[in-house]
Amino acid sequence: MAGDQDKKHVLLGVTGGIAAYKSAELTRLFVKAGHEVKVIMTGSACEFITPLTLATLSNNDVAIEMFPESGEFTTRHIDLADWADILVIAPATANFIGKAANGICDDLLTTVFPAATCPVLIAPAMNSNMWDYPAVQENFLKLLSYGFYSVGPDSGDLACGWVGRGRMVEPETIFLKALSILSLSGRLMGKKVLVSASRTEEPIDSVRYISNRSSGKMGYALALEAKAEGADVVLVSGPSGLTAPRGIEMVRVTTAVEMAEAVKKRFDESDVVIMSAAVSDYAPSNPPASKIKKTEAALHLDLDSTEDILRSLGEMKKKQVLVGFALETDNAVDNAIKKLESKNLDFIVLNNPNESGAGFDTDTNRVDIISRGGRVDELPLMSKREVAAEIITRIVKLLNSM
Ligand code: CTP
Repeated sequence: MAGDQDKKHVLLGVTGGIAAYKSAELTRLFVKAGHEVKVIMTGSACEFITPLTLATLSNNDVAIEMFPESGEFTTRHIDLADWADILVIAPATANFIGKAANGICDDLLTTVFPAATCPVLIAPAMNSNMWDYPAVQENFLKLLSYGFYSVGPDSGDLACGWVGRGRMVEPETIFLKALSILSLSGRLMGKKVLVSASRTEEPIDSVRYISNRSSGKMGYALALEAKAEGADVVLVSGPSGLTAPRGIEMVRVTTAVEMAEAVKKRFDESDVVIMSAAVSDYAPSNPPASKIKKTEAALHLDLDSTEDILRSLGEMKKKQVLVGFALETDNAVDNAIKKLESKNLDFIVLNNPNESGAGFDTDTNRVDIISRGGRVDELPLMSKREVAAEIITRIVKLLNSM
């Protein structure tokens, strides 16, 4: 039973799929654990389970209409969104996922969804052919790229008679995942995880800079997966076009000097540090405060090497699990092993931007994970969120063996 300070506001969105009947059990699990639950149902959800069932189990009115007849709740969607510590959509139909991914707000739930600033957990449920349909996959991946959490779907017998992927995971699994996201449980509960992401930008003058093509997708995925395991996560991010993940402390930096300061300052208190940022190895010396004017002559830039942050962390390391990345195009494994040893890492994640589906600004990655002792695990091509989950699982194992 949650103590007062651990008592959370759970906003449960139920959409119209056969799995809607499982939302009764999900509501009961949250209430039994001492959390307060408010339920929003779509019109279609009411065809599968009655609002009375969920109102009785949650001890709260169920919200369905955008404009209730009483006219009492003029900003009802904002009030509900602001109330929530977590929004759980279970089941999430293909229709809901499509609308949410495209900013369509045509009922109460789809209007609350973009208004909520809390973490959001989505549990898809649908027929396997619908799940595999490219537009549904695209919409779902789009939601994940916005920093939402997901659980399932499972494979197995579906209500429609098909066997395949699309079945909503069991209420217990959704409940446990929500508790982890709220940092109330999970394999990294109580652990502090520091992740660096994206690139640095080193000024040439007041308007130009040197940088690289790292988007931050891998690092943001790592921060989200660590959070989904209950960790307290700090994300130190260089410039990136990605949405700041919810429930994660963000520290924004621009240059290698700023990144070094932000990461080193938080190192001692961290249990796990993952350096996924592509830090610039060189920075222009003494960039002028104004814009350099064009002349007929060639322009030569003097570059100073920047601090190797990961190497410094390797020297400072005490109890931390320290993970680095290696970006290699030639003699990849040998070079990565050298980096693993010289920077005193626990393991290194090797990627080659020239492999198809890997590298900068893609949603997928193909990596090798190299442990101390030289063991190389070649992972298949996966989404960056899946790669991140694999990395987090290895970190959990290392922490457990310490
Ligand atoms: N790294 C760092 N500080 C730097 C450069 C790199 O902390 N100034 C970290 C990266 O975050 C990554 C690891 O070191 O985790 C390896 O980065 P990579 O660019 O592959 O290698 P470098 O050590 O910079 O060597 P090279 O570019 O010559 O391959």
